[in-house]
Amino acid sequence: MKKQHAARVLAIETSCDETAVAIIEGSMLLASEVASQVALHAPYGGVVPEVASRNHLRMLKPVLQHTLESANLTIEAIDAFAATCGPGLATSLMIGASAAKGLAVVTGKPFLAINHLEGHLLSPFFGTTEGVRPAVGLVVSGGHTLLVAIEAFGRYRLLGQTHDDAAGEAFDKVGKLLGLPYPGGPNVNHLALGGDAARYDFPRSMINSGNFGFSFSGLKTSMRYLLPKLNSIHLPDLCASFQEAVVEVLVAKTLQAAAATGRAVVALSGGVSCNTRLREKMEEICAAHALELLIAQPAMCTDNAAMIGYVATLKLAHGEASALSTDIDPNLRLAG
Ligand code: KG4
Ligand code: ZN
Repeated sequence: MKKQHAARVLAIETSCDETAVAIIEGSMLLASEVASQVALHAPYGGVVPEVASRNHLRMLKPVLQHTLESANLTIEAIDAFAATCGPGLATSLMIGASAAKGLAVVTGKPFLAINHLEGHLLSPFFGTTEGVRPAVGLVVSGGHTLLVAIEAFGRYRLLGQTHDDAAGEAFDKVGKLLGLPYPGGPNVNHLALGGDAARYDFPRSMINSGNFGFSFSGLKTSMRYLLPKLNSIHLPDLCASFQEAVVEVLVAKTLQAAAATGRAVVALSGGVSCNTRLREKMEEICAAHALELLIAQPAMCTDNAAMIGYVATLKLAHGEASALSTDIDPNLRLAG
């Protein structure tokens, strides 16, 4: 008799500058590959959409093949194909979505259109015994800063988001002002390790605004005004002080959201959740307030296809699939 296995999903993520493919079987990650384009965009100091889509076209087939090889599977052994359909860069989303639809057509298997934000939001629950459960979710990435009340899988309430720059964008812009290589986030984080976070006073915008909105663009402006006034530039102190301002606001608002919603679990995700100071401070505050903290595994923090595959497996388990006519949507929001 043929051995039964949980549904195997092959997921593709091409919403920005990472070409990523993963295969998930039930709650097991069989393979996950990410081809980063960071080096290609670095000379421009940011992601160039046409460069990104051309490289997705070039890289998707080898990354797909490599992922299948790592999982020791052939395309026929896959039960469903998923792709990020938004939000993101239109021409990048099209590459991954078209590929997944094509694979679904030729194999006669279902296609699932996945929201990139839902991927980030639920990534901290992957591999946990309880799976998705009520929590306050903080998604902090290069494109988004969201606080979300998670009721259950598929039931979300947006509590607040940034009014201007995302947290990761603030890191990247400040990194650029300080002359650090792109992307600024990891470099600022690294330099801040040896710095004095109390040396410079950066604004904690909206920290007591009474709502769950964020504003990070003032930080970049503060840095721009501060730099010409300094006799000497001490990068570690500048990085640590700036980072502390971002982290303090993120942690304070998350705590306020947990109190307002009565949630006992905090789920932290997105590229900025790799930040060592954010992880440390969030751990400290959650422990002090008897909140359980779930942080996405490091490989699932920055853009990856495993988080997309995870949402796809949950959708399949709920009997959901998408029509092949489902369009990409660069401005897709988190549905609740
Ligand atoms: O989730 P992600 O890969 O892509 C988006 O969906 O935007 O997040 C990328 C962002 C970039 O802004 C990057 O600078 C930031 O995450 N990031 C960090 C760290 N690692 C990545 N920011 C601060 N500290 C880090 N260690
Ligand atoms: Zn992302």
